[in-house]
Amino acid sequence: MKKSVNARIVSNRRIAPDHFVMEVKSVWLSRNSSPGQFVAVRARENATDPLLRIPLGVHAIRKKGIRLLYKVVGSGTKLLMSKRKGERINILGPLGNGFDLTPVFREKDSRAVIVAGGHGIAPLYELARVVTRGKKKVDFFIGAGTKKHVVCSKELRKLGAKVHVATEDGSMGHKGYVTDLLKKHLKQVKRYGTRVQGYRSRATIYACGPRPMLAALAKNAKRSGVPAQVSLDAYMACGIGACLGCVVRTVDGYRRVCKDGPVFDAREIVWESA
Ligand SMILES: Cc1cc2nc3c(=O)[nH]c(=O)nc-3n(C[C@H](O)[C@H](O)[C@H](O)COP(=O)(O)OP(=O)(O)OC[C@H]3O[C@@H](n4cnc5c(N)ncnc54)[C@H](O)[C@@H]3O)c2cc1C
Ligand code: FES
Repeated sequence: MKKSVNARIVSNRRIAPDHFVMEVKSVWLSRNSSPGQFVAVRARENATDPLLRIPLGVHAIRKKGIRLLYKVVGSGTKLLMSKRKGERINILGPLGNGFDLTPVFREKDSRAVIVAGGHGIAPLYELARVVTRGKKKVDFFIGAGTKKHVVCSKELRKLGAKVHVATEDGSMGHKGYVTDLLKKHLKQVKRYGTRVQGYRSRATIYACGPRPMLAALAKNAKRSGVPAQVSLDAYMACGIGACLGCVVRTVDGYRRVCKDGPVFDAREIVWESA
């Protein structure tokens, strides 16, 4: 169930060039959000610019609120960047369907392979937190353009996740795309009972990032027989399923990213479509 709340900003700090984490106080959002869901933030009250709310993934769920991780790309996120501690901000949420964690918690030896591209890491941190808290293994792949944009790696290691980094310029970790690094990993991890690093594992992939990354990942996952859930990005207007502005083509026809997603089974998406 969603609700519009005027949440107080607890902090709003820069964590990397153009990347910020805002914490807001809202017991409602804390109690009702789950990993993979998102909220729609109004950057400015009573104004037409920006006209629309900004969809942002729930980055972390705190006792009395939530955190949002955002990249500054345009007018709305620029306004968010200027918000100060103590100010109030209107947030509608939680929205959409989050990740399905049953495959990870159903089996004894199962594990989550989490793949983040750029600010796609936003909704994946909370997922890793929930999975590691449930005593399950997490392999967390972070892809970024350069070392400066690799965020959350320390926090993820603190949770107990095994972090693998790929940067396009090679300034940190594997040089190249995160999907290539994942491909190597998938060669090792087979869905049913392959020995990997001393234990038998069963993997489910969870991913969020740019569409070309998700398309490549979906192809690899299919080839390796590993199920994958992907969180899609789309231009959104209403954010609540009414305007059909965010539809994506699936094997079952068009579906709304805001209401039917943003998380989909990777096999459902028609990746060749625009
Ligand atoms: C379900 C969902 C969850 C999201 N979660 C996050 C998150 O946690 N953190 C985060 O940083 N971003 C997230 N995004 C993307 C974020 O909503 C957009 O970057 C934001 O709305 C841009 O607003 P703006 O007013 O700053 O930019 P605009 O002024 O609207 O646009 C600036 C530039 O960004 C491009 N752009 C705008 N919106 C999108 C979009 N949805 N997808 C791709 N390009 C876009 C425009 O084409 C333009 O080039 C999410 C999007 C969706 C749909
Ligand atoms: S944004 Fe209106 S239906 Fe999704």
